[in-house]
Amino acid sequence: MEKIAISSDHAGYKLKKIISTFLKELDYQVDDMGPQNSESVDYPDYGISLAQAVVERKVPRGVVICGTGIGMSIVVNRFPGIRGTLCSDLYTAKLCREHNDSNVLIMGGRVVGHDLAKEIVRIWLNTPFKGGRHQKRINKIIQFDKSLKS
Ligand code: RB5
Repeated sequence: MEKIAISSDHAGYKLKKIISTFLKELDYQVDDMGPQNSESVDYPDYGISLAQAVVERKVPRGVVICGTGIGMSIVVNRFPGIRGTLCSDLYTAKLCREHNDSNVLIMGGRVVGHDLAKEIVRIWLNTPFKGGRHQKRINKIIQFDKSLKS
């Protein structure tokens, strides 16, 4: 059973519950990293913990949800190795896998409807990375990250 992590803030909490159930129906082992209710929280706390789980390879990929998806996008993409992609349509969900090898799916709980969000998740999970010229471009991001460390 493939593992997947999911987290949100309060504005993404309802959609997180729906997507978590959907992932279980698809036979994923879901690590729900919180929050456990819809009380107001700060999205960085939940974005950081999910990004760390992916970077540390505790899970191969994750889903994060806030109100717009913007706050979570800013947070998770600060982590080298995270390729977080904000999706609110099916075309982007497909291309962010084929071209960008997305490992964190980001959605806005106040932006996408529940049924659309499920289809975004389904396509994102099932679309393989195309490699080739796209891998070359990702390698440039990896090199850039390394240059910041030295
Ligand atoms: C919370 O009100 C909201 O600011 C947050 O969910 C997110 O949309 C931030 O980018």
